[in-house]
Amino acid sequence: MLKHQLLLITVLFALSSNIYKAQSVVWLDKLDLSVATQGNGKPGVNTSVDGRKITIAGETFDRGFGTHAESSLLIKLNGKAKSFSAFIGLDDEMKGQNPAVEFEIYGDNKKLWSSGIMKLGDKAKPVNISLQGIKQLELIVTDGGNGPYYDHADWADAKFETSEGTKLITFNPISSIPYILTPKPSDKPKINSASVYGGRPNSPFLFRVAATGERPMTFSAKNLPDGLTIDSKTGIIIGKVDTKGTYEVVLNAKNAKGSASKKLKIEIGDRIALTPTMGWNSWNCFGHEVSADKVKRAADALVKSGLVNHGWNYINIDDSWQYNRDGKDPSYTGKMRDEKGYILTNSKFPDMKTLGDYIHGNGLKMGIYSSPGPWTCGGCAGSYGYEKQDAESYAKWGVDYLKYDWCSYGGVLDGLPENDPNKVSSLNFQGGGDLDKGVKPFKLMGNLLKQQSRDIVYNLCQYGMGDVWKWGDESDAQSWRTTNDITDTWASVKSIALAQDKAAPYAKPGNWNDPDMLVVGVVGWGNPHQSKLKPDEQYLHISLWSIFSAPLLIGCDLEKLDDFTLNLLTNDEIIAVNQDALGKQGVCLQTIGELRIYVKELEDGGKAVAFANFGREKVKMSYKDFKKLGITGKQIVRDLWRQKDIAKINSDKGNLALDIPAHGVSFYKFMSK
Ligand code: GLA
Repeated sequence: MLKHQLLLITVLFALSSNIYKAQSVVWLDKLDLSVATQGNGKPGVNTSVDGRKITIAGETFDRGFGTHAESSLLIKLNGKAKSFSAFIGLDDEMKGQNPAVEFEIYGDNKKLWSSGIMKLGDKAKPVNISLQGIKQLELIVTDGGNGPYYDHADWADAKFETSEGTKLITFNPISSIPYILTPKPSDKPKINSASVYGGRPNSPFLFRVAATGERPMTFSAKNLPDGLTIDSKTGIIIGKVDTKGTYEVVLNAKNAKGSASKKLKIEIGDRIALTPTMGWNSWNCFGHEVSADKVKRAADALVKSGLVNHGWNYINIDDSWQYNRDGKDPSYTGKMRDEKGYILTNSKFPDMKTLGDYIHGNGLKMGIYSSPGPWTCGGCAGSYGYEKQDAESYAKWGVDYLKYDWCSYGGVLDGLPENDPNKVSSLNFQGGGDLDKGVKPFKLMGNLLKQQSRDIVYNLCQYGMGDVWKWGDESDAQSWRTTNDITDTWASVKSIALAQDKAAPYAKPGNWNDPDMLVVGVVGWGNPHQSKLKPDEQYLHISLWSIFSAPLLIGCDLEKLDDFTLNLLTNDEIIAVNQDALGKQGVCLQTIGELRIYVKELEDGGKAVAFANFGREKVKMSYKDFKKLGITGKQIVRDLWRQKDIAKINSDKGNLALDIPAHGVSFYKFMSK
């Protein structure tokens, strides 16, 4: 009897432990979700990204992971998980907006499943996939092709079935430890300004010589055209040139440690922005909380931090200097225009002309923002119907740059509904690809800006619709956004970077493809944080924006620059590639696995080459395909981040050792010997 009982107990125990083994469940919300990378906000543990109960098309869930596109979460399974299941969808908390996303699941870098595009109000979609043998899983939410706006996405009731005792671990494989590559500038004078500058005849001329080295420094310039003078203490050149022509000027900077000279070609003619714009933009750090005071402080910080000595010189005010339609914040609620239709600035910008004078007094330029529609993306007054008055106001205030953002224009393509701007929503992106309709509002403003008595660099922001690079120049624009809004995530930087090559042939002096702002330093309005890009990802980001000849607009709080960020933004050899006078855009000439090799031809005959590793594994190899990069013969190879020559090779038969971190870059210049 006892024997039988014992046997029964043993069998029951074995059975129950097997059942337990087979049915062990690991909930996703029990893992560390903080390592996820995502477009905005913090990963929600059993909540939406905004901290609310997870709700998809009216259905609520107690458990899950609330995130924001573009989002990625990596989980180590080591072949021990059997399946993954969840209900996915967009969270109802964004009702009234038009978000769209796609959920994707990758196992060992292969796509296992995707949801297709999901919109707000779509019922929660079940997913249940087998994970047999998979070592590493990635849960991704893409922006669904329409930008990451309002993309609050939920992995509801997400769980794994595993064998008993299995531990699943989330991770982020890219190192977080910042490291500095670039040596500090010397005390001796060095002029870092671009070698060419364009202006129109009789426009106010303003150019601040960018030079590093100990202060005090004395500046001078030989062969300045009539009408221009240089301030010997600051290096700021002002005046007006009335005659078209090319003026070959020699700049000089002198201090107690020595002196330096550099040629500057001043081209007075029709074209401006002969090198990509370099400066700062308020949006990614201040958003709607921007004010004249913050802008002034950003100008001061640009000078104080020394960034100005490396060529950074635009201070661009983005959305929210105007009055807003939503009536929530009294400081920007009010009458939007005067009787004659001239725009009124909100109470945070009491005097735009004085602000412009202050910025110009530092030798810097002032940028502003509007939309061809009645509303900007953030719901402030746009220029629709008042384009002429707006262009005149900009000129009166001393504006040097306009970012003109599609936003609500889709709502007025066929005429304003019932002649009422309030009938148009602020985000109305459709229609920009229609060439007649999509080009018209940009041409209108381009033409008006050209009629003003000052040079206003014109930047189109319509996210690349209708291949803007093909018609931006005809609209009198100098640069145009090619892609959707950037966020400080690897997914965003990667997808934007990979989308640039098609526009490259259209880049030239005075015409630049704009992949959006630099997501380094402290960014995120309302939620200020260090860029979520890892240090290697930031090196890759800056290297590629340099090789793309992209406008370089810093999006971070300039009063909170840390050593790493400052170092990243003050490497004059990297900046020189971006500002190269030839004005070519580098393109990818070779792909080896996840390694993409970008090459940009430079004016001095050299080639800038970025070996960009988009993969999660480091790349270690001996490289020899130089012919594919258009590089032949004897070459000196210079490491641009470290600012030192690293090899002399015969590229016809030699090799170059590459050792590139995951999501990192080696950025070299090749020069024939
Ligand atoms: C759009 C632009 C952003 C920013 C905001 C302001 O999203 O792409 O860069 O200007 O509008 O509302």
